[in-house]
Amino acid sequence: MYPLKRNRRLRTGEAIRSLVRDTIITPDDFLVPLFVVEGKGIKDEIPSMPNYFRYSLDLLEGEVKELWKLGLKSVLLFVKVPDNLKDNKGTEALNPNGLMQRAIKTVKNICPEMVVMTDVALDPYSAYGHDGIIENGHVLNDETVDVLSEMSVSHAKAGANFVAPSDMMDGRILSIREALEDEGFINTGIMSYSAKYASAFYGPFRDALDSAPVDLVNIPKDKKTYQMDYANRFEAIRETEMDIDEGADIVMVKPGLCYLDIVRDIKNEVDVPVAVYQVSGEYAMLKAAAEKGWLEHDAVMMEQVTAIKRAGGDIIASYFAKDVVKILNA
Ligand code: PBG
Repeated sequence: MYPLKRNRRLRTGEAIRSLVRDTIITPDDFLVPLFVVEGKGIKDEIPSMPNYFRYSLDLLEGEVKELWKLGLKSVLLFVKVPDNLKDNKGTEALNPNGLMQRAIKTVKNICPEMVVMTDVALDPYSAYGHDGIIENGHVLNDETVDVLSEMSVSHAKAGANFVAPSDMMDGRILSIREALEDEGFINTGIMSYSAKYASAFYGPFRDALDSAPVDLVNIPKDKKTYQMDYANRFEAIRETEMDIDEGADIVMVKPGLCYLDIVRDIKNEVDVPVAVYQVSGEYAMLKAAAEKGWLEHDAVMMEQVTAIKRAGGDIIASYFAKDVVKILNA
């Protein structure tokens, strides 16, 4: 008697394993989030994100050059806005000489081929830490969409290749697409955070940008009236299909690891590239466990990004991008 089939034959050594491997990670898979701050000479480590930094524009240049050299050719820009420039309506977001607008120009100047994507949402600009304008304890939808559309045009004017609305207001993709077309930005793309869940994994990101919802009466304590309920599955497909109908070029699932079932659902359903955001809390979790010696950092990291791609992620937005590529290039 012998087993009918010996699956282990295809696992006998690294050479045969690599011959039959489905999923190969390359630098082309990654989108690198970058945090930008005002000032000069600043490279400031984010306490809850070890070895991840906020850069002032002068030091951002070196970082961007290094990414390009490593083969990382797309970045996603976020700005930390000084408190005195925050208000309810995100007025500063439209400043043609604001930090985001200058950051876009800085990256394009130093590295014209780099794909520059920009975060479009009010929270870094909001005195209340919300992704929308607040009135009587509610986050207003349509008024917020108007600001997001103007903000997108402002980013396009500064030279952004893609705008990435991360707010989860209804109807914003159509409105942004129309605004861009009206202004002649026919080649400025939209990467929509289409299935973005109300997740506790965003904590370290909110530390990085000082953008958490504030604790005040009549200010919603969380983002559950706009970001999705993590218990829901089919709603993610509905959200994503609507965004594609409205003009999204790339769609996104966020967070990553706990949501790979959703990634696969969406990958099976749509014919545009699917991005997955491996978020700040996922990064922090591994860093903390590795610091304690409880997990092997590089091995777990490679397993995670491979799982994201295997699930259907065409684009991986990840704070690990540089670490991964250094291993690939080694
Ligand atoms: C805000 C935004 C968030 C992230 C990206 N854009 C946080 C939030 O929705 O509160 C999270 C990214 C991360 O945790 O890495 N519009």
